[in-house]
Amino acid sequence: MDLEKIRSQIPVLAHTAYMNTGWSGPPPRQVAQAMKDRIDLELEKGPIMPEVLEAGREIQYQAREAAAKVFNATVDEVLVTRNTTEGLNIVLSGLDWNQGDEIVICDMEHGSVIAPTQLIGQRYGLPIKVVHLEMSDSSEVILTKIEDALTSKTRMVFISHILYATGRRMPAEELRKVTKDRGILLMLDGAQTGGHIELDMYRSGFDFYSIPGQKWLLGYEGSGALFIRREHLERIHPAHTGGRGIARPADANYFQPVSDSMEKFLGGSVSVPVQLAFLEATKFVQAVGIKNIEERNLTLADSAKAKLAEIPGVTVNSPLERSASSGLVSFAIAGQEPEPVVEQLWANHRLVVRQVGNPAGVRASLHFFNTEDEVDLLVGGVRELAR
Ligand SMILES: Cc1ncc(COP(=O)(O)O)c(C=O)c1O
Repeated sequence: MDLEKIRSQIPVLAHTAYMNTGWSGPPPRQVAQAMKDRIDLELEKGPIMPEVLEAGREIQYQAREAAAKVFNATVDEVLVTRNTTEGLNIVLSGLDWNQGDEIVICDMEHGSVIAPTQLIGQRYGLPIKVVHLEMSDSSEVILTKIEDALTSKTRMVFISHILYATGRRMPAEELRKVTKDRGILLMLDGAQTGGHIELDMYRSGFDFYSIPGQKWLLGYEGSGALFIRREHLERIHPAHTGGRGIARPADANYFQPVSDSMEKFLGGSVSVPVQLAFLEATKFVQAVGIKNIEERNLTLADSAKAKLAEIPGVTVNSPLERSASSGLVSFAIAGQEPEPVVEQLWANHRLVVRQVGNPAGVRASLHFFNTEDEVDLLVGGVRELAR
């Protein structure tokens, strides 16, 4: 990994210790440039001139192919979306829920898991079972707790693959075995995984999986991707549709949705510049290699956690065992609210982290472009504040 070259391609790193990829990753120059070029093309030639339209369609197709590669899935199982949350909602609002169906989630979840699930629960009168997790729970304990919540009525388990607040990597593969044996659907919120850890829909057997473009893939806001295992595609109804979702020719007296195809979820037009940014961003991270990125992020996180844990008054909220770790490192300073800590790290060191809730803490996102020196800057900054 040519770190110097990679860092030179991400301009913000020249003046900022950027550790907030878990919110939004810093874009590489070529990602922004590709988007600007496309905007210029539309500006100069017009947005719907034949060659511009044609190039736009090709970009959309390539973006979809790129997403399929990130998932290790086939193109027909993948849709480029506008964000993680949209993908999750497509599945939840598209399934035919039956009276009594239960959905299992956890209490350390992000709002993008909680809100759409509770909404569906309210709408269809479904019981939502919330599994209580402790920060100290091991993967085995988490698995047991979730397994204990399953009943003959459980239709779906829906969790984040990496928890946003602690960075815990959930035991999703093991959970898949448990749910599959019982005929239960497993949906994963991959907001913190795409571009961060290697994904393999083919091997893992997950049913539904949604990722963003703007975080660890280093694309722009307004892009993401959804995977739906082919065998489920027919049973997910498009909760909203439009001109792109009907079989041709359109007939006002007749509705025939595009069946068995991810296109049925497309309502109207999409942003080609943003999809191009998604495409270029996937190329950027894939040139480095997502397996290499995963390894490097874990190494940086291990180092940060070990050094932070040595500071008196600092508690590391992220798991220490490597198999449950990620590039997200959360910590708390005794007697201090997270928000002022975030502000001080910025004011004193131009270091960007964020506060998180449940459990409350400061979260540093360590991605492959970060350095050991930046980790030391964080540790030094926290040591000053903890004094
Ligand atoms: C676990 C989790 N889910 C969902 C989201 C929302 O992602 P998006 O804005 O791509 O929908 C986030 C991002 O903050 C997240 O951390």
